[in-house]
Amino acid sequence: MSILTVKHLAKIYEGKVAHKALENINFSIEKGEFVGIMGPSGSGKTTLLNLISTIDQPSSGEIMINGKNPHRLNRKESALFRRHELGFVFQHFNLLDTLTVEENIVLPLTLDGVKVSEMDKKLNYVAQKLGIDPILKKRTYEISGGQMQRTAIARAIIHQPSLLLADEPTGNLDSKSAKDVMETISTINKEEGATALMVTHDAVAASYCHRVIFIKDGQLFNEIYRGENRQAFFQKIIDMLALLGGNSHDLSTIRL
Ligand SMILES: Nc1ncnc2c1ncn2[C@@H]1O[C@H](COP(=O)(O)OP(=O)(O)O)[C@@H](O)[C@H]1O
Ligand SMILES: [Mg+2]
Repeated sequence: MSILTVKHLAKIYEGKVAHKALENINFSIEKGEFVGIMGPSGSGKTTLLNLISTIDQPSSGEIMINGKNPHRLNRKESALFRRHELGFVFQHFNLLDTLTVEENIVLPLTLDGVKVSEMDKKLNYVAQKLGIDPILKKRTYEISGGQMQRTAIARAIIHQPSLLLADEPTGNLDSKSAKDVMETISTINKEEGATALMVTHDAVAASYCHRVIFIKDGQLFNEIYRGENRQAFFQKIIDMLALLGGNSHDLSTIRL
């Protein structure tokens, strides 16, 4: 079953000079799949994620998430759709620093008026899964970058979304924390069957995916599948990035 289907998707940014950021993008993601999106800077990755997450409107084409077209919903329905069907993880964590880790994580449930007992149950489950139980009472300025990102992931999955969307989730982390975060996402994907789509320019992070889709100049360029061996997949990703050119192949991608 497809969780996400993207058909003939295009995005033109209007302005003094109209800019075609995406053109005729077609792909789908099956339930339980973990897919990476890579491409040079400016190739349209964030635009694609913003269209899928309904933050921005496509110029043409269609997006279906779990059988629904989120762009056909009114404002209120769309806000609910985002909150129930999607989970977001960003490069800059987007945590509220006036709240504790625990309060940040349950925020989406609070907004939906979920019962406290149910909230606690879910909180304990995700906290344990992500190894952040010891820091639940801390404020975000008291924890490390890796812990912040694991907190953000906990918040993104606590309501069991149909689709987890991540834009450069390891972009602000050192290599050790990046590895921890990728192993965490990978485990959640395996054990919870969570479907995930992640934009990254980090080849190591991408090597945790089942499949990586490459885009260039707003168009699909290629896709490759992992198979058994992550190390071999990493090498294939590096080779594809070299073929892609641009600045996608910067030094930060070389670390294992
Ligand atoms: N809001 C916007 N208005 C106009 N042009 C934009 C806007 N957002 C992005 N772009 C342009 O669209 C292209 C794709 O951008 P983006 O999706 O951010 O690329 P990436 O995330 O791959 O670096 C770039 O050329 C960028 O300058
Ligand atoms: Mg981007």
